[in-house]
Amino acid sequence: MRATAKAHTNIALIKYWGKRNEEIILPTNSSLSVTLDAFYTETTVHFKEELERDTFILNDQEISGVPYDQVTNYLELFRSYADQKGLFAEVHSLNKVPTAAGFASSASGFAALAGATAKALQLNLDDTALSRFTRQGSGSACRSIYGGFVQWEMGTLADGSDSYAIPIAPQDHWDIRVAAVVLTAKEKDVSSRVGMKRTVDTSAFYDGWLETLPRDLEEIKEGIGRRDFEKVGAIAEANCLKMHATTLGAVPPFTYWQDTTMSVMETVQQLRKEGISAYFTIDAGPNVKVLYLPEDEEKVMQKLQATNGVTEVIVSKVGEGISYL
Ligand code: DP6
Repeated sequence: MRATAKAHTNIALIKYWGKRNEEIILPTNSSLSVTLDAFYTETTVHFKEELERDTFILNDQEISGVPYDQVTNYLELFRSYADQKGLFAEVHSLNKVPTAAGFASSASGFAALAGATAKALQLNLDDTALSRFTRQGSGSACRSIYGGFVQWEMGTLADGSDSYAIPIAPQDHWDIRVAAVVLTAKEKDVSSRVGMKRTVDTSAFYDGWLETLPRDLEEIKEGIGRRDFEKVGAIAEANCLKMHATTLGAVPPFTYWQDTTMSVMETVQQLRKEGISAYFTIDAGPNVKVLYLPEDEEKVMQKLQATNGVTEVIVSKVGEGISYL
């Protein structure tokens, strides 16, 4: 009972920022992302009768503490579903998501873990069911089941059965690029889980954020359909700014931005003044991701690399969905 899965991370163009149910991870809004080919996790799950507990090895290192608990608790979900209580596994993960790039490796991590676990237990889940399982590890991870452009439908049911990802456009629909701009920055002190909860519970701006989302989502999907880069970029950038604005209205207020974050935002605005279509988006951390078209790569890279505080720029194309090795 052994299987290996590979899943890529994703970057949200319309952000998921808040839960209506923390236990089974149900969001307050639908979100949309693009899967990235440069960053992925490969995970092998091997269930063995003789094991007395799960083990988790990440990048050749045995893991204990909170990350171990997260993995073993997550496996418990599958064991219950498969009626296999007491059947433990060896989990081996290889993470090709440089932590410094500011991508939550949890997206590719939980997607690969879910895929490999379901396969090893021979559950024969379809992608929708797999996405539902993945969502319960980390919300954004449910979008990593598919390649290309992906929506996470928030759903309305209390049991979460209608909250899962759906593919909007495949990997080969549109060749856009995403540069992950790595900054000299301090470690973030508010995780996305804690930050979104504080925002939902206390932010004066949270209702305003929620109000504009359905329209952002409709418009960006229309833009993706027509491959209208200016439209998609402008909506994604504005949506990111609105999400980050909600953190300033929280009690106590907080921000993920640092001075270097703002320098990259300025570089992107400068690029646009020079006639180059580039747009930024930022998740729950200081690093910036820049969207642009392949023909502008040289100019975009030059400007980004010359920006104060930038240590590295990692380019990604649109990635594929989960696969089994
Ligand atoms: C800002 O998916 O990491 O990246 O569900 O608590 O694990 P949990 O949160 P997570 O949050 C991602 C937030 C975001 C926006 C997004 O990816 O949509």
